[in-house]
Amino acid sequence: MVVEKIKTGIEGLDKVLKGGLRKNSSILITGAPGTGKTIMALQFVYYGAKNYNENGVFIATEEGLDELRGFAKNLGMDLGEMEKKGRIFLVEKPITMLRGGLESIKGLLDLIKKKNIKRVALDSLILFEYLYPKINNNIMEYRRQVLLFIQKIKEAGVTFMAVSERRITDLDRLEYDMIDFVFEGFIVLSRIRKGSYFERVVTVAKVRGQDHSLDVYPVTIGEGGLRVLDDQVPFSLVEQEQRRVESK
Ligand SMILES: Nc1ncnc2c1ncn2[C@@H]1O[C@H](COP(=O)(O)OP(=O)(O)OP(=O)(O)O)[C@@H](O)[C@H]1O
Ligand SMILES: [Mg+2]
Repeated sequence: MVVEKIKTGIEGLDKVLKGGLRKNSSILITGAPGTGKTIMALQFVYYGAKNYNENGVFIATEEGLDELRGFAKNLGMDLGEMEKKGRIFLVEKPITMLRGGLESIKGLLDLIKKKNIKRVALDSLILFEYLYPKINNNIMEYRRQVLLFIQKIKEAGVTFMAVSERRITDLDRLEYDMIDFVFEGFIVLSRIRKGSYFERVVTVAKVRGQDHSLDVYPVTIGEGGLRVLDDQVPFSLVEQEQRRVESK
């Protein structure tokens, strides 16, 4: 069977994924604070619409939309322009204002149908934790609700990227959460240290049903957004610089 793949819109990541993500799959991006999860999810939606003709929805729970538009602009993404064209939709679901269940799923499915949405990003799964708190052994309900959400999104023909937070992202000591198993793909953003240098890195831990690299790659965030340096090993840039300084 030929696997139909879509480009993520994140430079370098598609090479690590050996061509991109399986169309209609569900991917979890996890990592410690500030590792680039939100930026990665935003790029998935923004460049999906801009470069690959796939309309998208971005659901934000913790950042205000204006704040998000500002951050994105600094990274070269004009969200407002794509919103005006009706190609992307930013949806705010502030956790502080949540009441009742996820009544918006129907609204989201309507939007997907009406606007021919092909990509949805949810930043972050915390939304479900607030709606279905993991108390009184309710952990299975939380998992069930996430699964139901993924199922509905998939039935609608959408590729889904969700963000989750994690305290320990040391790649050798990574503790898996039961929700990790619900998603078909699992990408970890982390920081590693060498002496006094820290570097951002990424690794693709799994994507069911497709081949991908298992290696750890450096990541940069700056002009042009988040890039995966798929042709480098971690700290190679630092080492090159050290060699340059030492040879002077
Ligand atoms: N314009 C920029 N130029 C360079 N680096 C930037 C820029 N904007 C953001 N960053 C870097 O990206 C990081 C934030 O990325 P992002 O918001 O995607 O992280 P996150 O993993 O979603 O964090 P959190 O868990 O707190 O939501 C910042 O800490 C900063 O280091
Ligand atoms: Mg974030």
